[in-house]
Parts: sequence; structure tokens; C-alpha cells
Amino acid sequence: MAPSRVAIYPGSFDPLTLGHVDIIERGSALFDSIIVAVLRNVEKSPLFTVDERLEMIRDTFRERGNVEADSFSGLLVDYASSRKATTIVRGIRAISDFEYEFQMALMNRRLAPAIETVFMMPAEEYSYVSSRLVKEVASLGGNVSGLLPEDVEKRLLERVRRKPMEG
Ligand SMILES: Nc1ncnc2c1ncn2[C@@H]1O[C@H](COP(=O)(O)OP(=O)(O)OP(=O)(O)O)[C@@H](O)[C@H]1O
Ligand SMILES: [Mg+2]
Repeated sequence: MAPSRVAIYPGSFDPLTLGHVDIIERGSALFDSIIVAVLRNVEKSPLFTVDERLEMIRDTFRERGNVEADSFSGLLVDYASSRKATTIVRGIRAISDFEYEFQMALMNRRLAPAIETVFMMPAEEYSYVSSRLVKEVASLGGNVSGLLPEDVEKRLLERVRRKPMEG
């Protein structure tokens, strides 16, 4: 039997958007399994804790047997090796994503030549969606329906109502 093809989809997912969901679904169709890996990044000040973000991902993909949510810190390639993943999945929204993603992919290749990075494009309607923008709009009272899974939208609205974003 061929070894199973495991992909890692890393990010902050603060919170999960339908853009992320789109990429995860494409990845889940392409690979035997896909691990959505939440980066434990001490520098950023997130709106949701890592555990809350993991819970939202798990709830959203309850019925997809080959989608797993996990968290990691340190080098992505070390985490990928520890999970026996052969592929890193990233989403590309616009040219603006390209430069940073290109640098990261080549640096990761240098660190771990056996791990391949694969880029996927979301459906057009999600090609401008980012967690940051969705949080900003929600905190200013704008309508974000259709951009997030329903449960995530509920939690986001609760959170920004209780804790308006600063700045
Ligand atoms: N709407 C989207 N379509 C396609 N790929 C996306 C989309 N949003 C995020 N991604 C990709 O998902 C991965 C993880 O991204 P990340 O967690 O930074 O999300 P983000 O929405 O960009 O959040 P933030 O606004 O906090 O940077 C990256 O590869 C990013 O390019
Ligand atoms: Mg981003």
C-alpha cells in the first residue's frame, strides 16, 4: 500500500474564515489527510485563544474524517516532520500574498528539501477575505455574514461586542 499523503495547513486562524474553509476542503479532497495547524505565536495578540480556535476548526469539520486540527510552535518543517507530513498547503489570495509566501516556501525547502509546498486559490468570492479584515469590520458593527462559518460568526460577534478591538 502506498504511504498516506499527509498535508499540513498552517496559519493563525484567528478566527477560521470561509476562505480557510475553502482551502481546507480543496486540500481534504487532494490528500489522504490534512492537518490544520494553529501556530502558537506569542508575539501576536489574538482575539481567540489557541484552544478556542482549535474548537472552531473541529466543530466546522466534525463530519470530515480526514481533517484534523492541532497546534504547534517552533519551526513549521520540524512540526511537519514530526507529523510525517509530505506537503505544506498555503492559500494565495492575490499577488500581495505571493512575495511572502514565495520566501517562506523557498526557506522551508532549504530547511527540509523533502517537504513540498503547494499553493491553492480559493473561490473568487473569498479571494479578499482575511481574518484581520473580518475582525475589523465586525468590531465596527459591519455585516460579516457569508464570510465565516455560522458558529464562528456567532462567536466573533459575541467576542467583539464584549471586547471591542483597540486602536
Ligand atoms: N480567503 C483566503 N483564501 C485563500 N487563502 C487564504 C484566505 N485567507 C487566508 N488564506 C491563507 O491561509 C493561510 C493561513 O492564513 P492566516 O492564518 O494568516 O489567515 P489570514 O486570514 O491571512 O489571517 P490574518 O488576517 O490574521 O493574517 C495562508 O496561507 C493564507 O494565505
Ligand atoms: Mg495572513
